[in-house]
Amino acid sequence: MRISPFYLFSIVFLLIQDVSTLPLNYLQKSAILAEVPRPITSYEDAERPFFALLGKLSPFQLAKVLSHDKNNRWFSSVFRDDNSEQVITEGVKSKVESSNTEFEMWLGEQKDRAFERILENIGGSRCHDKSVAPGAVLASPSKIRPNYFYQWVRDAAITVNSLVEYLDDHLFEDPVMYNLQATIEAYIINSYKLQRLANPSGGFKTLAGLGEPKFMPDSTPFNGPWGRPQRDGPGLRVITIANYIDLLDKYQKNFTTPELLSQGSQFVFDKIIKPDLSYIIKYWSSTGFDLWEEVDSIHLFTSLTQLKALKIGLNLADRFGDSELHKKLVIAFNSLRFFISVDSGFKPSRIPYLIETPSLVIQGRRSGLDIASVLASLRAHDIDDSEDTVYIPFPITDAAVMNTLIALMDDMKYRYPINHELLGISSGYALGRYPEDIYDGYGISEGNPWFISTATASELIYKLVYNLYKLRKGLEIQPEQSQLFAYISSLPTSAKTIHIPYNSQAFKSVTASLIDYADTFLAIIRKHVDAEGHMSEQFNKYSGYLEGAEDLTWSYGSFWSSLRWRSKALELMSS
Ligand code: NOJ
Ligand code: NOJ
Repeated sequence: MRISPFYLFSIVFLLIQDVSTLPLNYLQKSAILAEVPRPITSYEDAERPFFALLGKLSPFQLAKVLSHDKNNRWFSSVFRDDNSEQVITEGVKSKVESSNTEFEMWLGEQKDRAFERILENIGGSRCHDKSVAPGAVLASPSKIRPNYFYQWVRDAAITVNSLVEYLDDHLFEDPVMYNLQATIEAYIINSYKLQRLANPSGGFKTLAGLGEPKFMPDSTPFNGPWGRPQRDGPGLRVITIANYIDLLDKYQKNFTTPELLSQGSQFVFDKIIKPDLSYIIKYWSSTGFDLWEEVDSIHLFTSLTQLKALKIGLNLADRFGDSELHKKLVIAFNSLRFFISVDSGFKPSRIPYLIETPSLVIQGRRSGLDIASVLASLRAHDIDDSEDTVYIPFPITDAAVMNTLIALMDDMKYRYPINHELLGISSGYALGRYPEDIYDGYGISEGNPWFISTATASELIYKLVYNLYKLRKGLEIQPEQSQLFAYISSLPTSAKTIHIPYNSQAFKSVTASLIDYADTFLAIIRKHVDAEGHMSEQFNKYSGYLEGAEDLTWSYGSFWSSLRWRSKALELMSS
């Protein structure tokens, strides 16, 4: 990085000035100011402390240091710790808009590109391959090395949920070029067919076939050996289809596809949602393969998304007057909820983070750390539904969720050499699935960072900020959470709860700093997409180049979703 002498001079000069006017307890609190340099005699002299300092600044602080005058600088009055639990901060201006318009422009363009590439991977008019069944979501167009030319129930549900969200974000304006209603409804009709296909996991009658993870692109069964069943598919499908039905209601719209229009949402509930719910009721306590398709056990991602689906099911059963189903759902919901919170081992008291697959930890085979746990929290909680926070464990505000991200970063910043240049500066890192991963996108060697994981990290942080503004809630940093905030915004770690009042200058400052921190994950993604913004499944941990299945639908979906929450957070911050 090249820093002009003017900046060097002004920053160091301002630092010296500030220090001399600060109260002593403030000095003790601040790691940065403890590094304050001695008087400057030349620019060269200034460089050393400057770069030492640079290494400790969060991107937010850095931006301030480099581009703002004294009154704007966050550390001119960050903390006054009066030894009570209240920490009051004044005099810091917020930085809501990013000063980096070029980055903003890229985000905007890439968001559109990502969305279009999602649509190109779904059978229908925009799809490059006409053999793909309408509404079937390809995991990737890649047919060899690796062959991802299939439809996975999980990838499809998560992807189509983004289309539903797009409609909501655009007040149900459905651009002709996208034709989203038709695509979503084709997905629903395709789901009906897949549910009824006899397949290696079983048939429809016993419901066992609903655990089949993947199908051919023309919606026939995939009969090769695979890690099956995977029990997250039905729940994810319930979440997506129920969201669409809710959206139709919200905007007083109807289905547009004749098959669905004639039968209505009662049909969708009875014939598609209900079998999936019944599958969860029947099988939630049975083991199955995880979302990464490798381990037959009980998994947090599966259980938590199943629980969310059951909760949605309770509302739907009420609405469609199915009291029989409602009764069964109540029992399953309570049992699964109890299992997740108490018996599962997903959150042992001695470990600060969530465990995706407890059996692997018990056998000493893995740490249990996995981005899947963060994904689980994000997918299983509707942030605008306050009941989710109460009834579904591990909401994004749970310290264990954030600690999972921190622990993953702490591992992967060393594990992946492309992260080494980021060590010492306050930045996010390129993240993979889990530390022990050895799948390289083609076969087995060494795990790499994934676009899904890296985008998911940023989505978590954007959602946290959105949540605070939405609830108009002051920031309460519990002692266990202070590590995350120390990481991100250089707030000191504290043994006490820190309260930062809603909309105070400190609040604005810290939340803006969170946004900037989350942005660094997207900046990493930007660095590793190719010139046309293509994303594969992974990027090489040494070189950063694309690896694994090309144009992975889920990579685009997770990037798009993260940006969606970024926009939503920024909107509230500036209103
Ligand atoms: C392909 C799976 O989809 C992937 O998740 C897994 O890691 C590899 N096979 C290796 O088992
Ligand atoms: C491998 C991933 O591990 C799995 O989660 C995904 O469903 C498939 N690839 C298809 O994208």
